[in-house]
Amino acid sequence: MNAENFSPLRYVGDAVEILDQTQLPRTETWLHCDDVEKVAGAIERLSVRGAPAIGVAAAWGLVVGLTSTEGNLSDRFETAWKRLARTRPTAVNLAWALDRGRTVFEAKREQGERAMIDALSAWAEQLQRDDVATNIALARHGAELFGPEDRVLTHCNTGALATAGHGTALGVITTAWQQGRVSSVWVDETRPLLQGARLTTWELDRLEIPYRLIPDSSAGALMASGRVDRIVVGADRIAANGDAANKIGTYTVAVLAHRHNIPFYVAAPLSTVDPMAASGADIPIEERSEDEVRQVFGTAVAPADAPALNLAFDVTPHELIAGIITEAGVLRAPYRESLAAALAGAT
Ligand code: MRU
Repeated sequence: MNAENFSPLRYVGDAVEILDQTQLPRTETWLHCDDVEKVAGAIERLSVRGAPAIGVAAAWGLVVGLTSTEGNLSDRFETAWKRLARTRPTAVNLAWALDRGRTVFEAKREQGERAMIDALSAWAEQLQRDDVATNIALARHGAELFGPEDRVLTHCNTGALATAGHGTALGVITTAWQQGRVSSVWVDETRPLLQGARLTTWELDRLEIPYRLIPDSSAGALMASGRVDRIVVGADRIAANGDAANKIGTYTVAVLAHRHNIPFYVAAPLSTVDPMAASGADIPIEERSEDEVRQVFGTAVAPADAPALNLAFDVTPHELIAGIITEAGVLRAPYRESLAAALAGAT
């Protein structure tokens, strides 16, 4: 596998194949998803995950939905669209991709069904390619922020696995490392589903970037002892004022960074910005099964009926964010203005 050109999903003519991230790092199993239910299930189970990858998977889900559901073409599109829209609530890239898919599909209505189907698959393919190009662009902007030999800390997994390729925050770190600006990476394990321990380490191993895995709870001690120079994380949805929702535990890291005067950056494509959310209070936060907290890979770590709460994301207030790294450059506060200008430039 070429780590640099790796993508966790690929379209193979009648199906989308998805690298099952629930099985990493133990086995590399590709799921053959030839109907919309399989794509939706893969998103819900986190076989494919990370905001940009969810958007691209949903695009391919619409395409396979046209051949795998009942009714006329418009009914099949609607069934697929609604099923995919229900999968995960926080990553706005999902709604962003589904809305764009609908626009592309409807734009060809007068030219007939074949044109509508062809336009949808051409768009999904383009979306996948564009996501990689966007990530490479944002990584270049982000890398310029780093000093020589920085020790950087990251949370969750934001690498190629979380996108169509290259990654967002981890893509920034990869590019900065290639330029000699990173000496090592602190990888938060990221309880409860361990995206850092299972996935970020898997990617860093392949990229041959030095790292050390840490329990989430040791980030504060590392910062206090002067062993963290910079923090970069991803986002699932950024509100118009710059508040950013990301994997649960990100807010804790941001508060600690503020306490220790360490720059805390969010890296995300502009498709992760939701101008309809005025602030973080408008971002829906996914709540997942209590068993994900009570168990680790099916093994109980708490009484089977222990009441638990499993918020999948938290919101970091904009005032804790030193900059938002996008394909349009590194945006600075006041974010309401800089995000609006970047979005206007992108359309
Ligand atoms: O629940 P997940 O694994 O989908 O959460 C992923 C994250 O929180 C990522 O940081 C975010 O989606 C950005 S991925 C480039």
